[in-house]
Order: sequence, then structure tokens, then C-alpha cells
Amino acid sequence: MLTARRGGPLKGLLRVPGDKSCSHRALILGAMRAGETVITGLNDGEDVGRTAAALSQFGVRVEADRVVGGAWRSPSQDVDCGNSGTTARLLIGAVAGMPGVEARFVGDASLSRRPMGRLVAPLRRMGAVIEGGETLPLTVRGGPLEGIAHANDPPSAQVKSALLLAGLAAGVEVRVEEPATSRDHTEIMLAHAGAEIAIAGDPSAAAFGLVAAAVVPGSEVRVEGLLANPLRVGFLRVLERMGADVEWSNARVQSGERVADVRVRHAPLMGCRVTADAVPGLVDEVPTLAVACARAEGASVIEGVGELRVKESDRLAAIVAGLGACGIDARVEGDDLHIFGGRSRGGVVRSEGDHRIAMAFLTLGLASAGPVSVDEESMIATSFPGFVEGMRGIGAEIA
Ligand code: S3P
Repeated sequence: MLTARRGGPLKGLLRVPGDKSCSHRALILGAMRAGETVITGLNDGEDVGRTAAALSQFGVRVEADRVVGGAWRSPSQDVDCGNSGTTARLLIGAVAGMPGVEARFVGDASLSRRPMGRLVAPLRRMGAVIEGGETLPLTVRGGPLEGIAHANDPPSAQVKSALLLAGLAAGVEVRVEEPATSRDHTEIMLAHAGAEIAIAGDPSAAAFGLVAAAVVPGSEVRVEGLLANPLRVGFLRVLERMGADVEWSNARVQSGERVADVRVRHAPLMGCRVTADAVPGLVDEVPTLAVACARAEGASVIEGVGELRVKESDRLAAIVAGLGACGIDARVEGDDLHIFGGRSRGGVVRSEGDHRIAMAFLTLGLASAGPVSVDEESMIATSFPGFVEGMRGIGAEIA
């Protein structure tokens, strides 16, 4: 159990790990290209550790900041992806296009419930041999593939990336169209194709400290070297529309990605409406934005968030239950999340084994009348092992 409580204003520089999505991709693409790739700023969480460990099972040399790519071999044991959907989906795609490589993919209870059919179906259309159904475990027998044109709906970056990696491994053309563009790190990294990849700070981790700054009076929090890919920082545009004072500086390009420093200052927030087309750009930040909405004046709606039901937990249910436990009225209508901002009295929240739910509600605790406790916090280490330390570093009372 971890508890967050209201204290003084939050101030200073928040340290965040390297972006998780980019870290998985840097390791996998490094493992698929011949020669050495040096990676700096790799995310230190358990999910990325799963990808590194899996690549070692495939015979790839992975050291602290170095991957030596080349031919992969079949692992002698199951590839355990733990809680990490990106590990499972991207590696299934890559292996599908590698003749002679065979692997069985398994995951923890949460990952074993998450949909794989959306990936397996197009891979099979490419000619992939995959044993299993809609969920893990799945066995993939790599082989020659045909090209594909795929309509990626719902727009999943993991599915898109898996198909691109399958096409890359098999040397065939893959075209992906999506109703709204999902994160494009695989495309950017493929175009960059460098032997050195520098990974910028993870916006999904930074979101907790930056939203905390927006909701705790008197706060001012900075993050330096943040990944500023527009398909990832949608939450900051929403925060700004709600009234937060957001200032960008030092914009630059690093390994093909946009990077910048950002500072958020507290200001009274108003409720907001987020339309479905904006959701791919903030999909992992909905729990965090829900905290901003909870502390804003008036009603908010985040539309078209049905995909949240199949993340590490059913995040819609977890958000509504957690807000309710703190005295904030919220409900789901169809695929839309409605939140009625007001006074959060605090309470005990179930994290549902989901790192982002745990971190989002601890953030709410910093701006609630009474403390907010989350029942289980070990999953925080999947993406942001330094969360508690980093938040304490800007003055947050979390223990
Ligand atoms: C990710 C894509 C998104 C996101 C996940 C990471 C990625 O999932 O929610 O945390 O790295 O490609 P979907 O592809 O399922 O939308």
C-alpha cells in the first residue's frame, strides 16, 4: 500500500525514465539490424527488461546500452512477456517473418487476457504460421511472408509496428492505414536507421508530475529532454486548454524524434471535452488526465476511449471506481468517460494491478482533502521504477 497526501506546492525538475515505447523499438530494431547499436536513455522498467531478456533468448547479445543484431535462433523455453503488451506484440510480428525461428509466447494474468486476434489475423493473411487463438499463449513459426495492406482499426501502434517488423524481417511491403494516426516511433526509427539511438524522456511517465503541478496550487514542475512527438503529448495540449500554464523551450530533434523541455505551472482548471480523434495522442494518459478533470471546475468528457477496456486493466472501470472511492462522480456512457469535477475527499483505491492506475491515483492524492492510498503498487516498476523517488524530489508526500 502506498499513500499520497496533500502538502506544499510541487517545485523543481522531475526526472523521468527514457520513453518506454521507443526503448522496446530500439532494442528490437537493433536486434534485427546487422552490427552494433548503442542505445542511450533506455527505460529501466520491467517491461523493457522483458524485451531485453526475450531478445537474449533469441540469441541476440544485449548488454546495458548495446545490442548486437544478426540472425535469431529459436529459444529453448517459452518467451515470458510478463505484463508487457509491446514485448509480446512486436516480437510476435518480428518472429513471424523469420524462417526457421519458432517461439511460444506467454504472459502474466493481465497480458493473457489482452486481445491478440487483431494482430494474429493480419499476420495470418501475410502467411504467418501461428498456433493459438485470440490470447496468449501463442506459438509462432517464422517463415516467408507476403506483403499486406492493412486497415488498422482501432488504431493500434503495437499492431502497426508488429506488421512493419514482420515485413522488415521477411523483406516484403507492408502498408498500414489508420482512421487516426497512432504513435509512429517504429516508422521514425526505421527512417533514422542509425547505429546510435538516444531515447528521450517518457511523456507517459512525465504526465504524473506535470498533471500534479497543474492541480496543486503554487506548483511549478519542469521536465527536461522530454519526447515531444505530437502523437504522445496530447495530454499537455488538453491541460493547456483546461487552463494550465504550459511552456515549451529548447525544441530539438534527437534520433529523428522531437524533443523539448517543458514546464507546467498551476492555474485553476476548467472542465474539458476531448474528442475521439485526439485519443491516440493521449491514450496512455487518460487515467492521469482524469485526475486533472476530477480537480477541474465543471464537467469533462473524454470521448471514444473504449480501447482503455483492454489495457493492463479495464482502465475505464478502474478510473470510475477509483474516482468514486475519492468522492468524485464519474461514469462511462458508451465509449465516453464523463467526469464531474469537484472536491476529492481521498480514499482507498484499487490499482487493479495496473501501473498507470496506481500512479494516477497517487497523483490525485496530492490534491485531495484527505490522503489517497492505492492497495497495490508493485506494478509501478513495469514502466517507472523511480516514480516515488522522482515525485518526492519535487516535494510530493508519497509513502
Ligand atoms: C504502445 C501502443 C499503445 C499504448 C501502449 C504502448 C506502443 O497500445 O497503449 O502503452 O508502444 O506501441 P495499442 O497499440 O494497443 O494502442
